Amino acid sequence: MVDGQRMTIADDVRTNGATPNPWWANAVVYQIYPRSFQDSNGDGFGDIQGIISRLDYLAGLGVDVLWLSPVYVSPQVDNGYDIADYQNIDPRFGTMDDMDELLREAHKRGLKIVMDLVVNHTSDEHAWFRASRDKNDEHADWYWWRPARKGHEPGTPGAEPNKWGSYFGGSAWTYDQKRGEYYLHQYSAKQPDLNWENPKVRKAIYKMMNWWMDRGIDGFRMDVIAEISKRVDSNGKLPGEQGGHIPDLPANHGYSTPFLACTDGPRLDEFLREMRHAVFDGREGYMTVGEAPGIRLKRDGYITDPVHGELDMMFLFNHVLFDCKNYDTWTPVPFKVDGLRKIMAKEQKVVSKAGWASLYFSNHDQPRALSRWGDDSEAMRVKSAKALGLLLHMHRGTPYIYEGEELGMTNAHFTQLEQYRDIQSLNIYKERVDEQHRVSPEEMMDVLAKRSRDNARTPMQWDGGKYAGFTAADASVEPWIAVNPNHDVINAEAEVGDPDSVYSFYKRLIELRHTNAVVAAGDWKLVDAHDEHVYAFTRSLGGEKLLVAVNCSGQTVPIPRQAAKLLASSGKLDEGRLLISVTGSLPVNGQLGPWEGFVYYV
Ligand code: GLC
Repeated sequence: MVDGQRMTIADDVRTNGATPNPWWANAVVYQIYPRSFQDSNGDGFGDIQGIISRLDYLAGLGVDVLWLSPVYVSPQVDNGYDIADYQNIDPRFGTMDDMDELLREAHKRGLKIVMDLVVNHTSDEHAWFRASRDKNDEHADWYWWRPARKGHEPGTPGAEPNKWGSYFGGSAWTYDQKRGEYYLHQYSAKQPDLNWENPKVRKAIYKMMNWWMDRGIDGFRMDVIAEISKRVDSNGKLPGEQGGHIPDLPANHGYSTPFLACTDGPRLDEFLREMRHAVFDGREGYMTVGEAPGIRLKRDGYITDPVHGELDMMFLFNHVLFDCKNYDTWTPVPFKVDGLRKIMAKEQKVVSKAGWASLYFSNHDQPRALSRWGDDSEAMRVKSAKALGLLLHMHRGTPYIYEGEELGMTNAHFTQLEQYRDIQSLNIYKERVDEQHRVSPEEMMDVLAKRSRDNARTPMQWDGGKYAGFTAADASVEPWIAVNPNHDVINAEAEVGDPDSVYSFYKRLIELRHTNAVVAAGDWKLVDAHDEHVYAFTRSLGGEKLLVAVNCSGQTVPIPRQAAKLLASSGKLDEGRLLISVTGSLPVNGQLGPWEGFVYYV
């Protein structure tokens, strides 16, 4: 059994030759949402100096990489995912000197920094877009401009080129008076989509990426990267576009999202390969991860296969959409472990021979998994946070921890619309309640409490003080979004020294990823594929095999048949074979209590 020192799995393990097992294959990434992480200057807004002051905490947890959500200059309509200047830091977060200091201080502690890269769109306040509003400017073709629908007066209701809807509500087209045309934005009207068909756009982006790499960052998390190639033909026409007309897609409630026209277009592989050459050739020690909502699983296997030279990993969405009716976030269906398991199994399988998975349950766009799939009640919170952590971290791939997940932070449980800040949540309320009268205000508030992205965005809970240590207790301004009142119990100060805390459990999970070859690289195989409560699988490598079984329910249940058989075949239960478990001990009487789980050498 391999346990102990941090290993380089490239030395120990060759899965099958196709995946070269680079450094990130047994790394753990920690996502920082800077505006909610640590405020250093009392303005109620997290900043880079705040992050620097918490680097020792992060190094202590043991993670390898910090992924920073955007800190670039931005009007902040989508909390920084609307970038107005890629090569400057927004004053709300600090200065470029602060950024350089963060890089130095992080590297000193062995932590790598991965920046968010938002290049499917910019802010409408970016100089490129401003210039593009002039038809005669050399940037005229840098965005997706189209004339009004035939026979309609531009700028009047119904004159948009077609009925495509934005993911944030309303039309995906906005009229620009100066240009006299409409521009495409899959997200808010302040996030116009860039035209990647134009080689000058691509060149400018690669130049900017190189500038950041030269500054010392260690890679990029690429926002909605599968959307950079639209489904255009060789003349740059969108699907069905003819004589200035672009047909609608099947619509739901008036608008339909442009998903089919704007995801994984024919040039995606070409663009990603070109980017790899232009930015990463000759560099080492970096990583790339692309966010890819809606990408087909097979494509994940292809794009992350190193042979194709595109991306190291991708964030898939299948497993965070299985509990949404018709892929609609706002129509939740109850959690069933079978739904999660089925999709995770497919996601694992597609990269089992080549390519690599990124493992996540939570991020800044998802409600907290603990409240969503687990049980955040006082009695069950710690157990179910550990159970979900154990489940995720025992899969094959690179695990991602979202800030506060390691403390067992919960959803915000907001009750008033005024408490929400997220543009998507506020727009969807307006659209479905006020405009379409599809749901009652009470129903929508209930859905927001379950699903709003703000659930993950409340300030990091450092201590039990007035603002949870996020901002100084005597700060003159309130934090930009309310601190969760449960910070009196759930906070880093209380957990770091407690061996039974969620924090200590995560620390151990991270350590296992670093030191145990089976956890890092072992083959993944489902057992008891249909059990109603227990999610079980094995990991095997060389002659070693681990059985992982997690009870994802609040009841005591028997260890399912195949898992029980594997346990029995390895002889009498033996503490020495237990790698980790939620309770710290072996299962008793062939049963698993509520939210219990274990990893055992069989
Ligand atoms: C990604 C980001 C999300 C943002 C969207 C538009 O999904 O993670 O926060 O709103 O892209 O940039």
